[in-house]
Amino acid sequence: MIAAAIILAAGRGERAGGDRPKQYRDMGGKPLLRMAVQAFLDHPGIATVQVVFQPEDQAYYDAAMTGLSLPTPVSGGESRQASVLAGLRALKSSGAPPDIVLIHDAARAFVSQDIIDRVIDAVAAGAGDNEGAIPALPVSDTLKRGEEYVEETVERANLWRAQTPQGFPFAGILAAHEAHADKALTDDAAVAQAAGMGVRIVQGDERNIKITRPEDFAAVNSEEQMITHDIRTGFGYDVHQFEAGDAVTLCGVEIPHGQKLKGHSDADAGLHAITDALLGAIAAGDIGDHFPPSDPQWKDAASEVFLRHAMELVRRQGGEILNIDVTLICEAPKIAPHRAKMRARIAEILDIAPERVSVKATTTEKLGFIGRGEGLAAQAVATVALKGPQE
Ligand code: CTP
Ligand code: MG
Repeated sequence: MIAAAIILAAGRGERAGGDRPKQYRDMGGKPLLRMAVQAFLDHPGIATVQVVFQPEDQAYYDAAMTGLSLPTPVSGGESRQASVLAGLRALKSSGAPPDIVLIHDAARAFVSQDIIDRVIDAVAAGAGDNEGAIPALPVSDTLKRGEEYVEETVERANLWRAQTPQGFPFAGILAAHEAHADKALTDDAAVAQAAGMGVRIVQGDERNIKITRPEDFAAVNSEEQMITHDIRTGFGYDVHQFEAGDAVTLCGVEIPHGQKLKGHSDADAGLHAITDALLGAIAAGDIGDHFPPSDPQWKDAASEVFLRHAMELVRRQGGEILNIDVTLICEAPKIAPHRAKMRARIAEILDIAPERVSVKATTTEKLGFIGRGEGLAAQAVATVALKGPQE
């Protein structure tokens, strides 16, 4: 069962104001669109993430999405519904249309992995081509209808606030959008129902808000601060022996040297220590559990593969890496000339600002195995903020 996501970012964000469409504005240092896309890229059940945008936003798009590997975005239409149809048609003509599609508003940048799970599971369990699923929350306020005065109280039983991602069998929702393109319907569930599909309700999430008005930016910023209270620290340590060679790789940077480091992978003790620190912060075992040295596929592997994997595990828990501090312990080679490059490389792999990465070096005053130049060691500390309720 192959699932794809369509991320809608072709709106103008008129109600939110600001100097650019809201999906390109930053929150906690990242554009909303990047956060929304990242949530789906991080999800193991999503094979493709197709963005729908306005070509006039190309410069904003390029700046927001650096480093992410995505299919070329397609142009949206005048209405949300037209933009969805453009995204569906792009997936159809991609050569490998998915079985299931999740349609999501870029303006809901805080979508969780759990919601994506629930929607995929409900669609996969649904009745073939004829059933979709949406996340929704029950209405808890008393509802009134009226203009200047209350005219009536609306019965709130069985009323829901619909969110996205809304998930459907691909063929069914494409046919529904093609057939009802002329009607002004406000979400995909309405289009699906117009075409006779069933739509199941799964649990939404209060944090999955749609940034709509200027005050939403402020509200979410303060909420974000409140929910990042679950701060974890992890520690990592690694040693590799020197052997005959002409260069070492440390923290992702190759340094010419009279020896190389012996090891199963590229023996980058710096990245191995950071990988273990991240795994430690989320109590997810150690590097050997995830990449057994006995497994030939990891022989000569670039250590950034290990580090990226640890980062993805952190992200899948809704976590964010706050900082990394690594110390390389060796008599030679000299680390100082390469520090800036190492910081930049680590920051790039982890997709965080270089200011959040520290690389230090020390010797052991010629004492011990490191002092005798038999090998080197690396130590790292990682701090991670996990979001969501503390268990
Ligand atoms: N959207 C879209 N194409 C449109 C209109 C909306 O892709 N023609 C997207 C928006 O980018 C947004 C989502 O649909 O991610 C939900 O729409 P909304 O919150 O209304 O965003 P905007 O239309 O951009 O905002 P506004 O209505 O305030 O102008
Ligand atoms: Mg709109």
